[in-house]
Formats: sequence, C-alpha cells, structure tokens
Amino acid sequence: MQRTLSIIKPDGVAKGLIGEVIKVFESAGFKIAAMKMKQLSRSEAEGFYYVHMERPFFGELIDFMVTGPVVLMVLEGEDVISRNREIMGATDPAEAREGTIRARWAESKQNNIVHGSDSEESAAFEIAHFFSGIEIF
Ligand code: CMP
Repeated sequence: MQRTLSIIKPDGVAKGLIGEVIKVFESAGFKIAAMKMKQLSRSEAEGFYYVHMERPFFGELIDFMVTGPVVLMVLEGEDVISRNREIMGATDPAEAREGTIRARWAESKQNNIVHGSDSEESAAFEIAHFFSGIEIF
C-alpha cells in the first residue's frame, strides 16, 4: 500500500469541482485516508513548493495557491502515486491525455486543478507538511 498527497487547488474549489474530483479518485478505487479544507498561508505554500523555489514561476505559483481555500487529501492504494498522476494528466492541460482531470478542467500549467506527489519521498514530505499521524485513517 502506498500513500500520496493530493490537493484540489483554489481553481478547482472555485469552479465547484470538489465533488467531481473526489468521484474520480473513489471511482479509481483510491481510499481517502485523510481530508481537510484549508486556506494556505504564503509560508505554508512556499514550504510545500520549496523544490520549485528557483523556478521563474515560483512567485506566481505561490500567489495563485493562496487565492482561496484548497482541499488537502491523503489517498491510499496500490501504486497510488503513479496511478494518481495518470488520472490527473500532464501538468500542461494542452498535453494532458483525454479524460484526465487536467484535460477536462484545467486552464493552464499553473491553474491546473490538482496536485499529486511525484515520488514516495515527496509524498512522505508533503503528507507530513499538512497532516499529523492521528488525522490519517
Ligand atoms: P504541481 O503538480 O502542483 O507542481 C508544481 C506546480 O507548479 C505545477 O503543478 C503547476 O501548477 C506549476 N507549474 C509547473 N510548471 C509551470 C510553468 N511552466 N508555468 C507556471 N506554473 C507551472
């Protein structure tokens, strides 16, 4: 069993897609092991995305991530990290496979509805950034 951190970003929440995204995850057989809605502070968003700190889009990404509440989830299942990334589609919605979350609803590379951990190492860091052990079921 593997765990991954999923975020429904401010654009997904603002567009009323919380239910749609959760339905996609549950239909894929992922277990939702933890979930909360939260308005991120700048420092929470910066800490979360610290690996992208040197990227030119970092400042705008942080601005975007604090525009409204997000939904944070821990998803659990076999190979859930790579399966979730397949279901989300490519970062750039123009390159995302048809039927994926980003192909269906994302507007741009930045406003791309969802985040999902990209490795076991980042999943461990990202889950611990937002959830304590007793919040994960
Ligand atoms: P995410 O999977 O959350 O990981 C890093 C985020 O940075 C990514 O989704 C996008 O929202 C954003 N991102 C990645 N590349 C670019 C880019 N070239 N321009 C703007 N935003 C980007």
